[in-house]
Amino acid sequence: MEMRKLSDLTFNELNGKYVLLREDFNVQIVGRKITDAFRIDAAKPTLKFLVDNGAKVVICAHLGRPSGEYVKDLSLDIIADYMKIPFVKDCLEKDFLTDMKNGDVVLMENLRFYIGEEKNEDEFAKKLAEGFDLYVNDAFAVSHRSAASIVGITKYLPSYAGILLDKEITNLDAVLHNPERPLVAYVGGGKVSTKIDVLKKISSIADKMVIGGAMGTTFNYALKLPVGDSLCEKTMARTAIMIMLEATENECDLYLPLDKGVGKEFNKDAERENRDVKDIRDDDIIMDDGTKTIERNIELLKTAKTIIWNGPFGVTEFGEKWGKSSYEFARALAEYTKSGKVNSIVGGGDTVAVLNACGVLDDISYVSTGGGAFLEFIEGKKLPGIIALEDNFKNFSI
Ligand code: 3PG
Repeated sequence: MEMRKLSDLTFNELNGKYVLLREDFNVQIVGRKITDAFRIDAAKPTLKFLVDNGAKVVICAHLGRPSGEYVKDLSLDIIADYMKIPFVKDCLEKDFLTDMKNGDVVLMENLRFYIGEEKNEDEFAKKLAEGFDLYVNDAFAVSHRSAASIVGITKYLPSYAGILLDKEITNLDAVLHNPERPLVAYVGGGKVSTKIDVLKKISSIADKMVIGGAMGTTFNYALKLPVGDSLCEKTMARTAIMIMLEATENECDLYLPLDKGVGKEFNKDAERENRDVKDIRDDDIIMDDGTKTIERNIELLKTAKTIIWNGPFGVTEFGEKWGKSSYEFARALAEYTKSGKVNSIVGGGDTVAVLNACGVLDDISYVSTGGGAFLEFIEGKKLPGIIALEDNFKNFSI
């Protein structure tokens, strides 16, 4: 199905036009400081295109989950300050539009302060659309949510895919449908239960699948290996077995953790010991993949032409000590990508945070801004925000 694309519009079509631009600025803020501006920076090409073409740009976005209430700490004023652009406190009061000049950019307050946003209320979408000539969805990372600013709005304005959204679709589509092989996927993170569909999908498209982190612990548990006092979804053991069987049927080679980094307390200062997976003791707490696993994972990079990575392999929020397997893998992946031997695609907030912490974000072939949206896209689900753009193309005449 087709959709309209912002990049197809000309100067004459955009000059002086009021554009409502949806971005995902759901970024990490600690003590009123933006600690990870990746998503804001990723919006720059779309903004530049609009500004260069003389549009009057009003950005709308969300932060956190305030559920229709004003929450001071979730105000977007801090993002407007970071971007050095004016801030508009009320998303539905449009008097400010008349003062805007061609090429101006402003940011509106958190859409989720309005109950109608997450409920995709028609009335809210209609009011939000008032005063604009066109709408651009550049917010891939929230396009899996049926929100008013993602779905409802497309009923009222000619709607376009922004440059970032378009890039996300193109890159993720390519890896799903036409990857250069062998395709090796690395999946980590805490819970098998949140990634069942992703694991199934990946086992059907990848040549090799490496499962790490706490998820790997659950798989090892399913194979009757000891897991000590560790995070492990014991109720997911049958599911893990099912995924292993599917992988075999799909001729996808599966790689599980060989050893683990363990401590005696769940604490970043805990003493780290390396333990083979069959020797985990009852009072061991697994907090990372071990040294043999790290080596094996890095070695496997050399067998790939395309890599997908989602989900860290250890407690990366405890820093390098317990994030060792993820940090070392990130650096190796970056080096390998830079050498031109592999096309690497990374997605998911915690995984991208590891790339950032290692300073290698720019060395990866493609880093998705999506967390949940990335996973749903990989699962093969059609995102509501993308469906809305396709419907708008079909039904909204301009
Ligand atoms: C994200 O951070 O993944 C998106 O902005 C979606 O946020 P949500 O999970 O709060 O809807």
